[in-house]
Amino acid sequence: MGRNVVVLGAQWGDEGKGKVVDLVARHFDVVVRYQGGHNAGHTVRIQGRQFILKLVPSGILCGKLSVIGNGLVVDPGALLEEIDALEAAGVEVRGRLFVSNRAHVIFPFHRTLERMTEARPGRLAIGTTSRGIGPCYEDKVARRGIRMADLLDRENFRQLYDALAEDKEVVRAAFRIGEPVDFAAIRKQYEEYAERLRPMVCDTAKLLNDALRAGRRILFEGAQGTMLDVDHGTYPFVTSSSAVAGGAPIGTGVPPTAVHAVVGVSKAYLTRVGAGPFPTEAFDERGEALRRVGVEFGAVTGRPRRCGWFDIPLLRYTAMINGFDSLVMTKLDVLDQFDEIPVCVAYRLGGREIDEMPATHRAMTAVEPVYEMLPGWRSPTAGLTRYEDLPPRARDYLNFLEERIGVEIGCISTGPEREQTIWRPGCKLLELLER
Ligand code: GDP
Ligand code: IMO
Ligand code: MG
Repeated sequence: MGRNVVVLGAQWGDEGKGKVVDLVARHFDVVVRYQGGHNAGHTVRIQGRQFILKLVPSGILCGKLSVIGNGLVVDPGALLEEIDALEAAGVEVRGRLFVSNRAHVIFPFHRTLERMTEARPGRLAIGTTSRGIGPCYEDKVARRGIRMADLLDRENFRQLYDALAEDKEVVRAAFRIGEPVDFAAIRKQYEEYAERLRPMVCDTAKLLNDALRAGRRILFEGAQGTMLDVDHGTYPFVTSSSAVAGGAPIGTGVPPTAVHAVVGVSKAYLTRVGAGPFPTEAFDERGEALRRVGVEFGAVTGRPRRCGWFDIPLLRYTAMINGFDSLVMTKLDVLDQFDEIPVCVAYRLGGREIDEMPATHRAMTAVEPVYEMLPGWRSPTAGLTRYEDLPPRARDYLNFLEERIGVEIGCISTGPEREQTIWRPGCKLLELLER
């Protein structure tokens, strides 16, 4: 037990997964992403140097074998750009990074189509990252998508691509999208990408299963968050992939029995980028303070993140869906200056307390959070590394969350740097990492 671990977002993304993956990667041999694409932005700060990983697993910074699994949608241009930037910064990528031959390929017209659907009057705008993620997953599920293996097989690619292009041209005309698409130029560019990607592309399910057989440990790096999961999140205001722990075996090709533990990453408050219900959103100056102190602006798009208070019903729900063995609580330091801190302890709907996550957008929007006020600690926790140095009220805050959620908080993050971390003595998390 505990050998192969999933680390994933317990809220709406941007919980600090990048920092946490980097922190624990040394216990593993391979780090693999299992879903999403370059809509992710995982920040890792190492001695003042900042890296923002989008497609490449954060484990690359620790020199780990890194894998982009079959569950991802890959924009070759974005991937090559990211690799070049990492190598320019002195990170060795080639020879360490492998891309699944079954991962799907994003094309520029996916972005065009996304812009069109997002902007169409009368349609719900999701507030996507405009990376073509949704339309590419649409093609995957519609069984007309093009995978890495298809891209590398020249003859096959031409045929598949031309059929897909014909399809897209029909859609473009039907929706009167003015923007012209030069399908032939795109095909040529992708044929060039194929040659640059070829050395990295392989059957990563086999690579991972071989690693398992050789006794290697795998860390699964989730992107987005449970509430953005296409099945279990706040549909339709979600991303188009399976961000939950169950996505790990599907998105990598290892058997579910090879996933031994699940670690949830959560902020000590809550944020969300893009549209959709957010029961504990704070519209007042305290919400503004969270954004300012927490520097809550998107790592990928620069958009201001919506900010609000810790939501216990939401964490209980995401703990249920993922089966968290332990939680990492990040950005505790952002709460240092508050006199009191509201925490949502229950949801009310139509005057009654509910103990289920509403399934519809309408019900979720109508939820009234029930708050308890917890006293703030008003003293700096930023950079602390020992649990006993935390102010008693900060410990009370964490204990309150832990007790109500019903999952241990094994690790507390007090700043963006690797070292700004508190490990809870005797926690299950340390035990499962050190196995
Ligand atoms: P991810 O997408 O889950 O990897 O999270 P992001 O990188 O998008 O956003 C998290 C942001 O918070 C990044 O800018 C991190 O450097 C920063 N961060 C992570 N942990 C802490 C922490 O404990 N305190 C503070 N102040 N910042 C943190
Ligand atoms: P990381 O991995 C936060 C959000 C978008 C939008 C919705 C759908 O850094 O936590 P998409 O482009 O995926 O179709 O957009 O999902 N979103 C994220 N929010 N963190 C992310 O990634 C996100 N990736 C997508 O803002 O609301
Ligand atoms: Mg992010």
